Amino acid sequence: MQLKNKVVLITGAASGIGLAAARRFAAEGASLMLADMDEKALRSAAGEIGSQAVDSVVVDVSNPEQVENMVRATVTKFGRLDAFIANAGIEGKIGEIVDSDVENFDQVMAVNVRGVWLGLKYAIGAMRDSGGGSIVITSSGAGVKGQPNMAPYNSSKHAVIGLMRCAALECAQYNIRVNTVNPGAVETRMMRSIEEGFAPGSGETFKETLHAATPMGRYARPEEIANMMLFLASDESSYCTGGVYMVDGGNST
Ligand code: NAI
Repeated sequence: MQLKNKVVLITGAASGIGLAAARRFAAEGASLMLADMDEKALRSAAGEIGSQAVDSVVVDVSNPEQVENMVRATVTKFGRLDAFIANAGIEGKIGEIVDSDVENFDQVMAVNVRGVWLGLKYAIGAMRDSGGGSIVITSSGAGVKGQPNMAPYNSSKHAVIGLMRCAALECAQYNIRVNTVNPGAVETRMMRSIEEGFAPGSGETFKETLHAATPMGRYARPEEIANMMLFLASDESSYCTGGVYMVDGGNST
C-alpha cells in the first residue's frame, strides 16, 4: 500500500496511461480524483474502480477556471492534495511544418503546455497547504529527441521538461518534488492515431516498424508507465526532484 493516506489527482484519467495509473494507485490505497474532458469515459473509469475513495471531475486542462475548480474539488472532497499527475495530452495532426496549420499548433500547445502550467499553478498551492507532495508530468520520448512530422507535439513535450525543471527549483522549499515520466510508444488510443497518421490504412505495418526500431522490440504497456508514476508519487522517491525518467524500452539510448 505505497499510497495509503495519500490524495492523488490525475488528469487524462479516463483512458490509456492515466487510467492505468488510476487502477494501480487505487490498489495502492490512494484516495483519487480522476479528471478528464471525456465525461462518459471518465464516469466509466470512476465506476470501474468503484471505491468510496474515488471521485471524478470533468475538466478541460487548457481552461484556467476549470483547472482551478478541479484542484478545489479535490481538496473539498478529500481535504488535501499529496500527488498530482499532469498527464492529459493530445497528439495533434501528423505532417511537416511547411504543410501544417496554425490552429493545430495552438491546440496542441494549449492542452500539452498551457494545460500543464495551469495544473502546476493551482496544484502547487494546494500541495503547499498540505505540507508538500509530488508532481509527475507526462512528457515523452518525444521530449528528449526530435522527430519529423510531429513538431507541435514534440516541442510541447520538450516544453514540459522546462516547466518541470522550473517548478522543481521553485518547489523544493515547499517539500514538493516535480519530475517527468517520459514514455516511449505505449499501447493506447494515441499510438493507434499516430500510426494511422503516419501510414493511413497501414497503421499495423507502421507499428511493426516502430517495434523493430525499439531495442526491447515492443511498445510499452500502460501499466509499465503507471509503475514509474507510482514510484515518483510515493515516498519511495523522497529525494527525487527535477528528474526526467525514461520508460522507453531503450529508445532514447
Ligand atoms: P489517451 O488518448 O489514451 O488518453 C489521453 C486522455 O487525456 C484522454 O482520456 C483524453 O480525453 C484526455 N484529454 C485530452 N485532452 C484533454 C483536455 N484538454 N482536458 C482534459 N483531458 C484531456 O492517450 P495516452 O496514450 O494515455 O496519453 C497520456 C499521456 O501520455 C499524454 O500526455 C501523451 O502525450 C503521453 N504519452 C503517450 C505516449 C503513447 O505512446 N501513448 C508516449 C509518450 C507520452
